[in-house]
Amino acid sequence: MLTLDVIVDLQYGDCGKGKVAHYLANKHSYTHVLRYNGGCNAGHTIFHKGKKFITHHIPAGVFFGIKSIIGSGCVLDPDQFFREIAMLEKGGVRTKGKIFIAKNTHVITDAHKNEDKQKGGKIGTTGRGNGPAYRDKYGRTGLRAEHVKALKPYLIDLYDEWFEVKGNKHVLAEGAQGFGLDIDWGDYPFVTSSHCTTAGALLNGLPAHAVRSVWGVAKIYETYVGSKKFQPVGAVFDTIGDIGEEFGATTGRRRQTNWMNMASLERAIRMNGVTHIVFSKTDVLRDVGAWAVIDDKKVVEFKSEKTMQDFVLKRLRSLGISRNKVYFSDSKETI
Ligand code: IMP
Ligand code: MG
Repeated sequence: MLTLDVIVDLQYGDCGKGKVAHYLANKHSYTHVLRYNGGCNAGHTIFHKGKKFITHHIPAGVFFGIKSIIGSGCVLDPDQFFREIAMLEKGGVRTKGKIFIAKNTHVITDAHKNEDKQKGGKIGTTGRGNGPAYRDKYGRTGLRAEHVKALKPYLIDLYDEWFEVKGNKHVLAEGAQGFGLDIDWGDYPFVTSSHCTTAGALLNGLPAHAVRSVWGVAKIYETYVGSKKFQPVGAVFDTIGDIGEEFGATTGRRRQTNWMNMASLERAIRMNGVTHIVFSKTDVLRDVGAWAVIDDKKVVEFKSEKTMQDFVLKRLRSLGISRNKVYFSDSKETI
């Protein structure tokens, strides 16, 4: 048997996928955790046994000794990969025999990183070589992990892993970035270069019928990092950014903020087939003392957290997601 649970960020990244992955990996009996898209542009902040870890490549399964795979939908920077293994080991996380790379995953080279640092400014990339590595993959001039000697001990064939190796497979697929940054469905060209969708998870050799649940993750307000103008005028948005400590885990850049947009949320829920949803950082709006969403291009304000949640829950119900599949979570809380 092969089952698949997918985690998808429904906004612009940084919604707390790392936390949800960490929670699910701990609670359910997964045999594999798979990172399905993106490179080291992603930064997942994870609190494990009281310690803070920021991972860029390696999926959250490693914290629980679950087989953790960097999938063929990803691009991999070998230097960062080895740095991360060293960081995890130093923090007391055993990685030996737990971390794998699909042999057809493409590699980010120094040339990709240099190019991205020089030319990525226009749309405000993370400068980690992500875009150039995917371009070379699709231009058929790229380099696969299987051709990098240092990566040989970590290589895995995803076909063998999913279908040939004996036993049941319960896969948790952990995405990077978010639907608003998706190469096809985001606000092009202010997008990343990979597929941040449920479909993006399937691109790692997984059959559609394996999908059991899709965990959408959204922040109770929105944030975006990059060069387009995103944050509206108003002191409240800076306050949200300050209280929410909205600085990028990868680049340290200040994230722009806005109210949660219901239309984009609905689009993301529908196109990704979301079955469960986690709203993160609900304490931030509580601390700010302001609650609002953008609905039908207008700002709708609420008097309390409860009235905002009721509004959101009603909308989710109309999309087929019932109350018991919705989680409102605070920053420090594990769901
Ligand atoms: P790239 O993915 O580095 O090419 O950057 C493209 C866009 O995606 C830029 O706006 C980045 O700030 C954004 N981006 C990439 N990775 C992340 C992430 O993990 N969180 C939030 N934004 C990201
Ligand atoms: Mg992040």
